[in-house]
Amino acid sequence: MTGKGDGGSGKGTAAAATEAVKRRLGSLRPRVAIVLGSGLGFLASEVTDPIHIPYSTIPGFPEPGVAGHKGELVAGRLEGVPVLVQAGRFHLYEGHSATVAALPARVFAELGIEILIVTNAAGGVRRTFPGGTLMLIADHINLMWRNPLIGQPEPGEQRFPIMHEPYDAELRALARTVAREARVPMEEGVYVGLLGPSYETPAEVRMLERLGADAVGMSTVPEVIVARSRGLRCLGFSSITNPGAGITGETLSHEEVLAASEKMGRHLSLVLKGVLSRALLA
Ligand code: HPA
Repeated sequence: MTGKGDGGSGKGTAAAATEAVKRRLGSLRPRVAIVLGSGLGFLASEVTDPIHIPYSTIPGFPEPGVAGHKGELVAGRLEGVPVLVQAGRFHLYEGHSATVAALPARVFAELGIEILIVTNAAGGVRRTFPGGTLMLIADHINLMWRNPLIGQPEPGEQRFPIMHEPYDAELRALARTVAREARVPMEEGVYVGLLGPSYETPAEVRMLERLGADAVGMSTVPEVIVARSRGLRCLGFSSITNPGAGITGETLSHEEVLAASEKMGRHLSLVLKGVLSRALLA
């Protein structure tokens, strides 16, 4: 999967993928893309006048392989806003390159999408963030040792994009306001992206805590790197489904992670929709 050049890794395929998606959109011009993490798939069913675009019809998009992850883009409207929802992402732990993980983000940029909203399930690293905590992502740490921008820059991408504000300050402020008004408890913190697929050891969780992380997961970072390099404004949320290993002595399974993030979905969707309905009001 590391391949040389394009090698099916995703680079160079963004244009073909964009064409395929564009053909299906008709006159719809999505302004916001939303990436649904584990257990949040239900949001895709709330899109009105949905156009379902299965990954099997998009060049370069692999079929997703994780239980609870679907494989389609859903275009339509949420809160009246034209959106493109990504139901199912490509994880590095499935053997995909960072370039493939970030391919949808490149397509979003090509389509002229202005805002990328990413969601994920994560483990709590900060001791005061137990399972059930909704966390607005303030910043991230890339501990995947991979970067989707490696290789020749794609058209429109900078060689050395700055990452001083990966998650948009204005959108974060709006999310805080929406959460407060909707009485949704929401913390804010730093997400660290690891390769996975094994969950962390207690020693690793202690290390991540010292590095300044508040939540740990296995996604999100590649998409946000590409989105920022293309000038999209990003907003991210982690559903903290469990305390990190060693914090409480609790153990977890993927099924428990799914169940917990589904439970938190209602709160997250309230905040997300509130942000959507207000983000584009100039
Ligand atoms: N670690 C990494 N990823 C996760 C976790 C975790 O504890 N929980 C949900 N996704």
